[in-house]
Amino acid sequence: MIDLKNVHKTFNRGKANQVDAISGLDLHVNDQEFLVIVGANGSGKTTLLNLVAGSVLPGSGSIYIDENEVTRLPDYRRSRWIARVFQNPLSGTAPDLSILDNFRLAAIRAKAKGLSIGVNDQFKNQVKQKIAALGMGLENKIDQPMGTLSGGQRQALTLLMSVMDNCKVLLLDEPTAALDPRSAEVVMRTADKLAKDFGLATILITHNLKDAFNYGNRIIQMAEGKIIKDLDKQEKSALKQNDLFDWFG
Ligand SMILES: Nc1ncnc2c1ncn2[C@@H]1O[C@H](COP(=O)(O)OP(=O)(O)O)[C@@H](O)[C@H]1O
Ligand SMILES: [Mg+2]
Repeated sequence: MIDLKNVHKTFNRGKANQVDAISGLDLHVNDQEFLVIVGANGSGKTTLLNLVAGSVLPGSGSIYIDENEVTRLPDYRRSRWIARVFQNPLSGTAPDLSILDNFRLAAIRAKAKGLSIGVNDQFKNQVKQKIAALGMGLENKIDQPMGTLSGGQRQALTLLMSVMDNCKVLLLDEPTAALDPRSAEVVMRTADKLAKDFGLATILITHNLKDAFNYGNRIIQMAEGKIIKDLDKQEKSALKQNDLFDWFG
């Protein structure tokens, strides 16, 4: 589903502050694979997600999503395949618009087929139904401005509205880092469920070793723009939580 072939990304080339953020990276992520990425700050995790999303273009190498070459494609031309949640709950939604209007915007952006967008009850009911499944009681607040909600509530809603029908890839960059433990759990469980329900290829970056341990069916560790460990489903399930701590020892 996602393929990176010998991808390089250098920032500030030729300057004193040149950084090889991604150095000859090869990565294949299968359909329905849930890949967890861990690694020290500055190891290139976010740059890797940016390269998949198209918000950063590679210096060399090639990138494919669902067998389409997207190497030079800007982010808005691949966004129909990609749902993305950032660390900052303020990213990704419009604070002054209601929950419902934010869902409407997201649907328009994804040009979701078969979704009737507009001021009609069918769309409203679909949104309410999705939101009710979070178990946060937000289905009764869909006319409330997004900006009045807590970080956890916003993050859970961002996740829901970004996964649309055509979506194939879910990118999560430390989605729970700014959240209280209870909201973090709702967000992670929702992400896991959406990944399964929609059969998404999912990439989760996290510093939370418990989440790294509990979620996903593959785990890689990055250092200096490279993959230094790669454990498949079997190897990951044989992993103990302490082994993960040792990775950072
Ligand atoms: N837009 C940018 N301009 C210059 N340097 C950048 C940019 N984005 C990332 N970097 C640098 O690339 C390296 C990898 O960063 P990043 O991918 O954000 O790491 P991580 O997410 O693992 O903390 C770091 O040294 C960072 O400072
Ligand atoms: Mg990062």
